[in-house]
Amino acid sequence: MKAHEMFLNSIENKEQFWAEQADQIHWFKKPQTILSQGENNYPVWFADGELNACYLAIDKHIEDGYGDQVAYIYDSPVTDTKQKITFNELKENVSKFAGGLQSLGLKKGDNAIIYMPMIPQAAYAMLACARLGITHSVVFGGFAPHELAIRIDDCNPKAIITASAGVEVKKRIPYLPFVKEAYEMAAHKPEHIVVFDRQLWGNKVDWENEPQLTNFQELLEKSEPADCVPVKSTHPLYILYTSGTTGKPKGVVRDTGGYATALKFSIEKIYGAKPGEVFWAASDIGWVVGHSYIIYGPLINRNTSIIFEGKPIMTPDAGTTWRILSEYKVSVMFTAPTAIRAIKKEDPDGEFIKKYDLSHFRTQFLAGERCDVATLDWYEEKVGITPIDHWWQTESGWPMLSLMRGVEDDGVKRASAGKPIPGYDIKIFDEEGYELEAHHEGYLVIKLPLPPGALMGIWGDYERFHYGYLAKFPGYYFSGDGAIRDEDGYIFITGRVDDIINVAGHRLSTAEMEEAVSGHKDVAECCVVGIEDDLKGQIPFGLVVLKSGTQISETEVEKEVVALVREKIGAVVALKNIVVVKRLPKTRSGKILRKLIRTMLDGKEFQIPSTIDDEAIIDELKEKFDEYRK
Ligand code: COA
Ligand code: AMP
Repeated sequence: MKAHEMFLNSIENKEQFWAEQADQIHWFKKPQTILSQGENNYPVWFADGELNACYLAIDKHIEDGYGDQVAYIYDSPVTDTKQKITFNELKENVSKFAGGLQSLGLKKGDNAIIYMPMIPQAAYAMLACARLGITHSVVFGGFAPHELAIRIDDCNPKAIITASAGVEVKKRIPYLPFVKEAYEMAAHKPEHIVVFDRQLWGNKVDWENEPQLTNFQELLEKSEPADCVPVKSTHPLYILYTSGTTGKPKGVVRDTGGYATALKFSIEKIYGAKPGEVFWAASDIGWVVGHSYIIYGPLINRNTSIIFEGKPIMTPDAGTTWRILSEYKVSVMFTAPTAIRAIKKEDPDGEFIKKYDLSHFRTQFLAGERCDVATLDWYEEKVGITPIDHWWQTESGWPMLSLMRGVEDDGVKRASAGKPIPGYDIKIFDEEGYELEAHHEGYLVIKLPLPPGALMGIWGDYERFHYGYLAKFPGYYFSGDGAIRDEDGYIFITGRVDDIINVAGHRLSTAEMEEAVSGHKDVAECCVVGIEDDLKGQIPFGLVVLKSGTQISETEVEKEVVALVREKIGAVVALKNIVVVKRLPKTRSGKILRKLIRTMLDGKEFQIPSTIDDEAIIDELKEKFDEYRK
């Protein structure tokens, strides 16, 4: 079938289309109601269906006779470990850990936070929660205790599941100490802290002197296996926090039935992965890519999935990606363009690529940020495969724009993220909500209802969900991205239209950074913008105005602000560029001219906005930025 025909069918015959897709997964109670109105009249899918995501990911395949197939490959160059885990072994670990959680009193309807590095135990924890109907919320390891505490207070977990430590290249990263700090900071006190002791390089948890901690491995080993608990299709499988336009992250809520249906559909029809093949998403379980295409998607489709603990470079070199593709006969891979740029920088001639047999490797998908044409060209020339740039968000949970490798698609158009995927009726609107013609830049919006698998709301905050996504253009979901459509229906993403930036494929909020920067005792005012970066796509850049009469030197304050942001938000922010300025450029009504700052810092041509309150500031900034560049 042609991708475009499938798309039209999904829009014209929504309910029938998705009922057919829902038939591709196993339900304990098959849904009779396909599309209905949920709370606040927001559309929901398969409301009366019952299922279990862990059952679909594991038990179903064992019942079908695939228990000995490898479900996970754990490859950790940073700890020199390789491990293969079959579906039978996965079930043993997950069901026993679920039994352990049950023995601690956790049950359907409770929440649990998971703060873990890329190790198999993180997958066990997520799947064990799903097995019992416990809603998990995974927090990325690069976030600091303060961020963890915000999430604890927002979703009130009954337990936190963590590990003693992670590894970044060669550095041991403390996880447990961060959890303890977050526990102290948070107002809500989870009843249990369950810790997997990695015993890295001789460091062990002192269980005797830490009676408040539960030993993950002991709990797993001593517990009886627990069965899958059927949940409603609309039961929240997880909450995943993502950056918004305010200082507070928002908890995207995902259902179970719509999501499982969408993942099965997407991994087969978009990614073109066939059951039994190896699928590798080189991301982290802390991001949506990890949830959808390291954990649930590949397993539901009976693919072997890879848990990779390392970086595309330095662990040990820029050949790691090709080594993994070759060693495990990977068919389809997903990563962020930044990872390819990092490899390209280390190995511009692609010498490492030549060392490996990539004959099993079929398709490279890229997302998280726009793929620049130079990176795409390099990849095509050196690997012999044209990567597929595709676009989606934490909110959607699965791709919204892409090519469809499981059906007949229209082929790659450079710099475009592809065409709308079945279920996503995408339009480009102007400020007033009128649809724009081809080649005009506007807001990317999607006609409601969103298809199965897209967000159900923001945890505990309907107002924020409504005002953030639904209010700007009634009847449409507002994505926060700008875009252009061409005459062939390909869409080109032009970037965020709000204060969100993408640093090395990681979504971060400049508003959140500003909140942290203004916490410095000598800072009167500040502004953080995302500027272009050859490797990471974007990096944050901060301007600070000091309180009058402060004695601190500029160098000192710059250093302290960088440290403060790292302490408050985490290492992942990578805010390293701060300059002290006398004042910020503003409009006459007092709004900071962020776009002007960004354009000046990127060294591009800029126009002085007519609303600027004092043009003299342009020269002041120029001088400062020139000084900084030097
Ligand atoms: N736990 C703790 N710290 C973490 C972390 C984690 N899981 N992930 C990153 N960090 C830290 C890093 O150690 C680094 O700290 P440092 O300032 O002390 O060096 C900081 O956060 C920034 O990390 P990162 O953005 O990863 O930059 P990098 O320079 O270490 O590596 C790339 C750059 C491009 C190699 C790397 O970002 C990468 O592989 N990106 C792939 C993109 C990706 O996975 N995107 C997810 C969405 S698809
Ligand atoms: P996240 O929610 O972390 O997945 O980040 C989603 C945001 O990343 C989107 O709103 C876009 O701004 C950006 N993004 C993701 N994929 C792409 C892409 N292929 N091209 C351009 N921007 C992208």
